[in-house]
Amino acid sequence: MKDSNDVLVPQHYKRLKRGPQVILPKDIGIILAYTGVSRNSVCVDAGTGSGWLAVSLARLAKEVTSYDNREEFLKIAERNREIEGLQNLILKKGDVTKKIDESDVDIVTLDMPDSDKALKNAHKALKKDGYVVGYLPHTEQVKKFVDTLNKLKFRNALTVETIVRDILVREQGVRPSTKGVWHTGYLVFAQK
Ligand SMILES: C[S@@+](CC[C@H](N)C(=O)[O-])C[C@H]1O[C@@H](n2cnc3c(N)ncnc32)[C@H](O)[C@@H]1O
Repeated sequence: MKDSNDVLVPQHYKRLKRGPQVILPKDIGIILAYTGVSRNSVCVDAGTGSGWLAVSLARLAKEVTSYDNREEFLKIAERNREIEGLQNLILKKGDVTKKIDESDVDIVTLDMPDSDKALKNAHKALKKDGYVVGYLPHTEQVKKFVDTLNKLKFRNALTVETIVRDILVREQGVRPSTKGVWHTGYLVFAQK
């Protein structure tokens, strides 16, 4: 049986190619809402992966620079950028634990192993009050990430998990579906 991740998501997610594990619309939604991304926002994203988050940000933001250290994944994201016709999405090969070229940015999103190691560069790249977001599959990563946020004096750290329950509405009764996507990743938000 299909669940809400297959059925009601906007068409553009159905067009996009998939390589490495993508961030699903249920998590992208809360990232867009909690960072308040708008047409004035300048964003940095890493790793690009299939570019699902990068594309979603670029559909709303002024400019998004997305980094990946692997050429083959940047190629998938390039294809997705083409499909969506996004001229404000810049794809760069690079390791964000070593360097982020941009400065004075509004939002930095991190979805990669060891993303806590990129927080120092994220802090440098962000403007005051700018948001950093970590998408982290495991609790151990969350602890490391939040400890590093605190060391770097980020403020308002908030960790959440989005659980979307599909509800079956049928003649015999209305109840939550027993199927669906449960855990994807934890989301950590904080401000410089
Ligand atoms: C799970 S994927 C990201 C998926 C993406 N957020 C999406 O929604 O499609 C993780 C990516 O991080 C990249 N990566 C890992 N370490 C990195 C680093 N230090 N700097 C830049 N990219 C990195 C990997 O090559 C991989 O493509």
